Amino acid sequence: MLKTVALASDHGGYALKESLCEHLLFKNIRYIDLGTNSEEAVDYPDFAHSISKSLKKREVEFGVLICGTGIGISIAANRYKHIRAALVHDTSTAKLSRQHNDANVIVFGGRLVNFNIAKDSLDIFLRTDFDGGRHQKRLDKLS
Ligand code: RB5
Repeated sequence: MLKTVALASDHGGYALKESLCEHLLFKNIRYIDLGTNSEEAVDYPDFAHSISKSLKKREVEFGVLICGTGIGISIAANRYKHIRAALVHDTSTAKLSRQHNDANVIVFGGRLVNFNIAKDSLDIFLRTDFDGGRHQKRLDKLS
């Protein structure tokens, strides 16, 4: 199963994004790095927008977004109708965001979550399917 993932962050998520890119490379999972490319201050809505374009064009199946807390970039990402972005804290919320919410973007707070938790959460996110059923009815109500 070959997944393609796009990652993007602001400066607050840059360090964690770089580590997660290395992790995906190590695991042989194809990814696109949409920036940012340093710790210089940038605006998180621009990076939510980049991920939204990549998903819209179906270049990737899933997105990873990171800002300092994960909050701003979640708010920005969820303004796009084709995005269901889940701010997760651990492997349980990562798994449930796929099973119950069919999340297509996983979000981390780069200043709040350590690398080991983030990489384990990303791994479980990428290998968990949506449960459908009663959850599909609820997703339908979102649109
Ligand atoms: C940037 O300093 C910080 O505000 C941003 O990364 C994010 O945490 C906003 O929600």
